[in-house]
Amino acid sequence: MTSHPASTITLVTGASRGLGRSTVLAVAREGGDVVLTYRSQADEAQSVVADIVALGRKAVALQLDTGAVSTFPAFVERLRVALRDTWQRERFDHLVNNAGHGDVAPIAATTEQQFDRLVDVHFKGVFFLTQALLPLLDDGGRIVNLSTGLTRFAYPGYAAYAAAKAAVETLTVYMAKEFGARGITVNAVAPGAIETDFGGGAVRDDAEINRHLANLTALGRVGLPDDIGPMIASLLGDANRWVTAQRIEVSGGQAI
Ligand SMILES: NC(=O)c1ccc[n+]([C@@H]2O[C@H](COP(=O)([O-])OP(=O)(O)OC[C@H]3O[C@@H](n4cnc5c(N)ncnc54)[C@H](OP(=O)(O)O)[C@@H]3O)[C@@H](O)[C@H]2O)c1
Repeated sequence: MTSHPASTITLVTGASRGLGRSTVLAVAREGGDVVLTYRSQADEAQSVVADIVALGRKAVALQLDTGAVSTFPAFVERLRVALRDTWQRERFDHLVNNAGHGDVAPIAATTEQQFDRLVDVHFKGVFFLTQALLPLLDDGGRIVNLSTGLTRFAYPGYAAYAAAKAAVETLTVYMAKEFGARGITVNAVAPGAIETDFGGGAVRDDAEINRHLANLTALGRVGLPDDIGPMIASLLGDANRWVTAQRIEVSGGQAI
């Protein structure tokens, strides 16, 4: 089991469902506390908080649209209040930039609005949210940015999404360089296809797509949220303290 000191606080964006939810539950099972954010599903976020409290850990859920940079200063203030009221602390330990949506469209049909939203959420938001949170992130902490297997292999319809994630992979290396002096590690986790609500839940709900992707995967199936969350939690643990500036694909060997 990865060791998480009892006082460790991990902030995971977009943890009301899917991979973020699996991550915060894995962190809690390993003895860490969490701040989770959600965009619209307050009820689901509160039910994740209840699950974490049932595991004996502390959790707070805060609303945040990671594509709306102008709202970040107010979010930082709400986070300050939550840290003070719940933990009597001014800083947290780990940041997982996970929130995101899928929007599948071929290049020929992608609108400027679709493109801008993908870039705002998956790249610009990650850049400026991390910038805004830097004063609250403890020295010696960790940052994990969610990327995708689609930066290594190409599926039609994911050009804008995958290009934004590729930007995050480059950003990850620069963050590792600039934040290293504070003892902060920064890595990108790149999942393969996982059964979540992402992209309308196609990987989970469309049997043909699911079978096709399973056949392309060395381990013979598509991924489940719990193939990813515990891996991210382990990356936050002390055993991985010397891993930084890496893109780590977690895809069961998809398209190799
Ligand atoms: N599933 C896959 O196959 C796969 C593969 C590779 C990478 N990824 C990446 O993994 C991350 C998580 O995906 P997932 O599969 O867990 O998706 P998901 O099941 O659809 O969950 C998305 C989560 O992110 C939140 N969210 C979405 N857009 C947001 C925004 N603009 N601002 C703030 N929160 C937002 C949602 O909040 P609400 O519940 O409130 O809407 C929800 O908590 C994403 O970055 C995605 O690109 C997924």
